[in-house]
Amino acid sequence: MTAPIPCQRELFDIPDDVAWLNCAQMSPTLLSAAEAGEAAIRRKVHPWTISPVDFFTDSEIARGLFADIVNAGPDEVAIVPSASYGMAIASKNLTAGPENRILVLDEQFPSNLYAWREFAERTGARIDTVPRPADDDWTAAILTRIGPDVAVAALPNNHWTDGGLIDLERVGVALRDVGAALAVDATQSLGAMPLDVRRVRPDFLVAASYKWMLGPYSLGFLYVDPKHHAGRPIEQNWIVRAGSEDFSGLVSYRDDFQLGARRFDMGERANFGLMPQAIAAMRQILDWGVGNIQATLSARNEAMAARARAMGIDSVSQGLRAGHFLGLRFEGGVPEGLGTRLAAENIHVSVRGASVRVTPHLYNNDRDIERFFDALGRLL
Ligand SMILES: Cc1ncc(COP(=O)(O)O)c(C=O)c1O
Repeated sequence: MTAPIPCQRELFDIPDDVAWLNCAQMSPTLLSAAEAGEAAIRRKVHPWTISPVDFFTDSEIARGLFADIVNAGPDEVAIVPSASYGMAIASKNLTAGPENRILVLDEQFPSNLYAWREFAERTGARIDTVPRPADDDWTAAILTRIGPDVAVAALPNNHWTDGGLIDLERVGVALRDVGAALAVDATQSLGAMPLDVRRVRPDFLVAASYKWMLGPYSLGFLYVDPKHHAGRPIEQNWIVRAGSEDFSGLVSYRDDFQLGARRFDMGERANFGLMPQAIAAMRQILDWGVGNIQATLSARNEAMAARARAMGIDSVSQGLRAGHFLGLRFEGGVPEGLGTRLAAENIHVSVRGASVRVTPHLYNNDRDIERFFDALGRLL
């Protein structure tokens, strides 16, 4: 059961005349997270207040909160700076040969492509790009391309340009049937759309925190399936080695690591300035409930899609689109300069490929939506 969430604008600092319909680009920081971040930055003004245990405490709290969001255990979560870093870890720890294919989507976000190009170069495997399906059914299009020669599918949960949905549970089953790995970039869904790693069973799943996770820039989290916990990190930092809690013994160099996915943590993962913001944001998301966020944003977007349709503007239909995401498709392409002209009126959306991406969150109110449609009507 989900319950709609009333507008939460008071938890943010968004002036009345700003319509930020652009969470897919970057979320505004929650006031609670900003306060936590300001206090965190001030902490290093007095470094004597930071003790060795603090290098671990917040990292573990954040790891646990992310684990709660994806239904994993904290030992299965690594702290990373970006989606691309997560994909670098995934591609370093998977294998393929010249007979294999790596599945990606047409116009996939580059952070989940370049790592696989390098992987293809290294292993001799071939990138196989699933073309955009004319009927918008990405899941069916992916399923028809899965065969015994697929080694890896590197996929999002929904397409970053228009929200086109991928049923990762179904795709995951088909991949496991042929012994292929699944690496997921959930940056454009996690925090706003429920995802359960026990059901999807990805090998690796990463999300940058600065969009739907409402967290800071330069921080993300990576779920790693336990079968990869003996894998190789992409950097060798001291804190992920066993016994690093004992600062006086750090030069008793160790070959063994901290438990589980912690070996993949980035250097300086304690990240004193940013981590408290991520913690505040994830607590707020869990408090609202990801299912409730999705239900609320889906209703908002479906109403917008219907209104746009009445103006002759198309979008991916409800069942094939992630509910929190709307990409408006204009016959003959996005009108020249539309994004800039809207921005000049303080109405912020983004033009991505052939779509105008409209991605509201709980801070948006009915006035924002009215202003968007009023401007659209005038500018077309
Ligand atoms: C699908 C997707 N993945 C990842 C990112 C961010 O990637 P990174 O964290 O590597 O900068 C974005 C940003 O727009 C995105 O849309």
